[in-house]
Amino acid sequence: MTGAGRGLGAAIATALAADGCAVAVNDLPESSGAAAVVDAVQAAGGEAILAPGDVTTPEGVGAAVAAAEDAFGPIDVLVPCATGPQPEAAVEHMTWEDLLLPLRFFTLSPLLLVQAVLPGMRAAGGGRVVIIGSDLAQRTDVGWSAYSAAKAAQLALVRTWARELAADGINVNAVAPGWIPVERHASTAPEHLAAYTARVPLGRMGTPADVAGAVVWLASSAASFVTGEQVTVNGGHRLT
Ligand SMILES: NC(=O)c1ccc[n+]([C@@H]2O[C@H](COP(=O)([O-])OP(=O)(O)OC[C@H]3O[C@@H](n4cnc5c(N)ncnc54)[C@H](O)[C@@H]3O)[C@@H](O)[C@H]2O)c1
Repeated sequence: MTGAGRGLGAAIATALAADGCAVAVNDLPESSGAAAVVDAVQAAGGEAILAPGDVTTPEGVGAAVAAAEDAFGPIDVLVPCATGPQPEAAVEHMTWEDLLLPLRFFTLSPLLLVQAVLPGMRAAGGGRVVIIGSDLAQRTDVGWSAYSAAKAAQLALVRTWARELAADGINVNAVAPGWIPVERHASTAPEHLAAYTARVPLGRMGTPADVAGAVVWLASSAASFVTGEQVTVNGGHRLT
């Protein structure tokens, strides 16, 4: 579970642990949040270890996966969730680096992670990959084209990898949240939240628990015949 020191990753790691998974909690080595998540899971009677590493580099992915496999054996559920900064840029100001930054998190990192866990999953006879996408793979927001493009590329990887890995018993899916306020949104103006909520048919902001519920389902035996799909968790917010 990458990027699990705060935000959606922390909620998903906690929910997977509550569902009975032994969870390797990844974040950057300097993250104090990841240790707090491990402590909280253990205090609730679950199993968790720290698996630090920068998941946009082969070295960081190698260290994180090794920590997880040393503790628990082959990884049977991989959840790439980490994100770096998400700068907004209108097209006239956008640089190639603006496009590359989200691609590093949403395509390079999942690629390195899947390659690292594949031998273990194959040896174990199967597994699950549940990638945290975004509804902006299919919606639009002004200034967010680099992020949208990377999430759309990520969804294409999910669909294609689902076919490539199906014969190994590995299901590959995505969960695509809408805007889900987390710690980094703490200073958002109430009017901004109200304007967004007004466009959501279910009439409220989503919560990290809403996203975690979809991940737990995709990781469970109840979703064993689901692959190559994106489960959108955005209260029905579409194309606005
Ligand atoms: N929160 C939302 O509104 C929202 C909506 C749609 C999609 N998402 C997606 O959900 C995922 C998580 O987003 P979030 O809002 O929880 O973000 P967040 O910023 O709250 O958490 C991201 C975590 O990733 C960690 N991280 C950063 N760089 C890392 C690296 N190189 N290696 C390992 N960990 C690293 C950070 O330290 C942090 O703990 C992302 O893929 C994001 O695109 C979020």
